[in-house]
Amino acid sequence: MAPIALDDFLDKPEFYRDPYPVYHELRATDPVHWSDIMGSWVLTRYDDVVASMRDPSRFSSAGRHALSLDRLPEHVRKKAKPIYEHYAVGLIHTDPPDHTRMRALINKVFTVRAMESLRPRVQKIVDDLLDAAAAKGEMDIMAALAFPLPVAIISQILGIPEEDNDKFAYWNEGVNELTATGRTTEANLERGLPIFQHLRAYLRDLIEKRRRDPQDDLLSALVMVEDEGDRLSEEELITNYQTLITAGFETTMNLIGTGLLTMLRHPDQLAQLQADPSLTESAVEELLRYETPFQRNWRVAAQDTDLGGKRIERGQLVAQMLGAANRDPEVFPDPDRLDITRNSGRHIAFGYGIHFCIGAPLARIEADVAFRTLLRRFPALRLKHDQADWREEIVFRGLNSLMVEF
Ligand code: HEM
Repeated sequence: MAPIALDDFLDKPEFYRDPYPVYHELRATDPVHWSDIMGSWVLTRYDDVVASMRDPSRFSSAGRHALSLDRLPEHVRKKAKPIYEHYAVGLIHTDPPDHTRMRALINKVFTVRAMESLRPRVQKIVDDLLDAAAAKGEMDIMAALAFPLPVAIISQILGIPEEDNDKFAYWNEGVNELTATGRTTEANLERGLPIFQHLRAYLRDLIEKRRRDPQDDLLSALVMVEDEGDRLSEEELITNYQTLITAGFETTMNLIGTGLLTMLRHPDQLAQLQADPSLTESAVEELLRYETPFQRNWRVAAQDTDLGGKRIERGQLVAQMLGAANRDPEVFPDPDRLDITRNSGRHIAFGYGIHFCIGAPLARIEADVAFRTLLRRFPALRLKHDQADWREEIVFRGLNSLMVEF
């Protein structure tokens, strides 16, 4: 039997409702698979994804966006110059030694302790959001909690004035036009570039203000951070600041939304969690594994290399399907079964190796507080509709809306 082609599923709504049967089949028959539509190799085995994350000399993080822009016609590419320059200096798009240097500086600010100290603030935001929704007897979890919680906490810690919180969705749309599609088109560029320029100008201005007048927030700390005379340059600050903003909320929003949907669809697991809230921590890890919020990461082959019996050529894109890897039966027995007591600690929802998510402790706290508080305050929480409103895209696994009653 010929292996299936992922490309045949990418325009089918049922694929986005449940992509895992397709990933299981790819993993079993063609684990290093070529997709014309994605313009990349597609890895679905856990071991292959981890191997590609472990070795930046073979699988590089540098130039990923350049690659998708490189396909644009010459006259369009000229317009994209600011985007090339922007991504060339960020944490997430560099390899050692540049990455090592920046990560060491940023790690000094994003410590587990600094994140843990935010728990009371997270609790206050969750309480306020749920107070606002409580009287109505129903709510759209995405709009009422999953979206505003990470936005509020990121803007608080990064020093973005509250009145600018409504700009987040707009910025995110712009950045996604340019980066999340994998194949940036001229139309993406026309839509995304002005927003991107707006975001950069906004951040430059805020950084300048913090330099003049430091506050008690992580942005001021990032501006000030120093390691043996080394500092983040102005351009590095802007790019990393942008990454912290956009990497930090769409992912967390998806974890809260799809996580809650998953719990409500598994009444036995929900009952177990309600009976013993101390299971919340391990439930969050299982939900990260089961419905991985950021499903497709990528690298660029830095040299010709062999993987899973296929020859990957230097310069080709490699899509690391984290959601597929987290359902690999070789690593997680009976992977399609949700089990909040499972030892799912090896999941790679936050990546693996040197680029391991810097915001993981914060995302875990936000999900922990959100689930505990929701289930405590609304013990009769239930879904309003059977059908889930999945977003039809392969990078993030998330919901447009999630109506619940209580
Ligand atoms: C559930 C929520 C989250 C998920 C699933 C997630 C996932 C990931 C993954 C898979 C990576 C690795 C990317 C790669 O290897 O190329 C990553 C890196 C990163 N994440 Fe997260 N993330 C989440 C929340 C956050 C938050 C809250 C922040 C910041 C406040 C954040 C900031 C970052 C940054 C800066 C990196 C780059 C680290 C580096 O390149 O060294 N993330 N994240």
